[in-house]
Amino acid sequence: MKLLVTGGAGYIGSVLVRLLIERGHQVRVLDRLYWGRGPLAAVAERVEIVHGDVRHLPEGTLDGVDGVVHLAGLSNDPTAEYNPAANWEMNAIATEQLALACIRRGVRRFVLGSSCSIYDGLPTDEVLDETAEVRPQGAYATSKRWAEQRLIELAGAGLTPVILRQGTVYGYSPRMRYDLVVNTFVKDALVHGRLFLHGGGWMWRPLVDVRDAAQTYLRVLEAPEAQVASQIFNVVHDNYQIRQLAMLVAG
Ligand SMILES: NC(=O)c1ccc[n+]([C@@H]2O[C@H](COP(=O)([O-])OP(=O)(O)OC[C@H]3O[C@@H](n4cnc5c(N)ncnc54)[C@H](O)[C@@H]3O)[C@@H](O)[C@H]2O)c1
Repeated sequence: MKLLVTGGAGYIGSVLVRLLIERGHQVRVLDRLYWGRGPLAAVAERVEIVHGDVRHLPEGTLDGVDGVVHLAGLSNDPTAEYNPAANWEMNAIATEQLALACIRRGVRRFVLGSSCSIYDGLPTDEVLDETAEVRPQGAYATSKRWAEQRLIELAGAGLTPVILRQGTVYGYSPRMRYDLVVNTFVKDALVHGRLFLHGGGWMWRPLVDVRDAAQTYLRVLEAPEAQVASQIFNVVHDNYQIRQLAMLVAG
């Protein structure tokens, strides 16, 4: 397949793009390259990189494309709260616009990188699956939820949306993120020799390894349409309390 990966030079994207290429797919990345081209250096000869903004889709972005993985946008609470307007443009409106462009071009498969943070407002004493109600709280989670709903609505217009609600991702990527809890702990352990717990570390976090997250994208891209159309999947290995994680990293 020829696949467009928006945000393909980011933390998850740079792992995913490599996996897709190794699997024999052709990949075009659309990314504003906030972190440069370095994250894709290992596959530079085998990937087409379009330097652009998903809010203004460059001409030809969807040419020849069979499916889209949409990862571009603001990817955490602090950046979204810092500039809620930009967050809404990127995470909500640009997602809708890209999906509409796909419908016009007959590109059906559209996989959205959503987030378990849309469950943030719910009590954390029970396990929530995809049938649970959601209660997004901040700008980031609200925009992700809106994008999810818009994509599901557009299924009637010829789109095959697949929503991946990822837990907090961890592990090595050519573009490391150290704002994610496990990665933060590993960095602090190596740099400071100590881990910092806030509020006693009683909070729960759903976690997933970045390689497993990438595999999930691959699976839903390659799955028969009927198995994944308009499906929502929580992409999580397990739930951990922060203090438990700290002990694991410290050990
Ligand atoms: N990493 C996680 O723990 C996690 C968890 C849940 C959901 N997600 C979602 O998965 C997706 C990827 O996350 P990530 O961790 O790889 O984030 P990231 O910030 O590392 O990567 C995002 C990439 O998108 C690009 N980008 C940002 N705005 C853009 C725009 N307007 N136009 C084009 N490119 C743009 C950036 O340059 C970057 O390369 C995001 O949508 C994020 O919200 C991530």
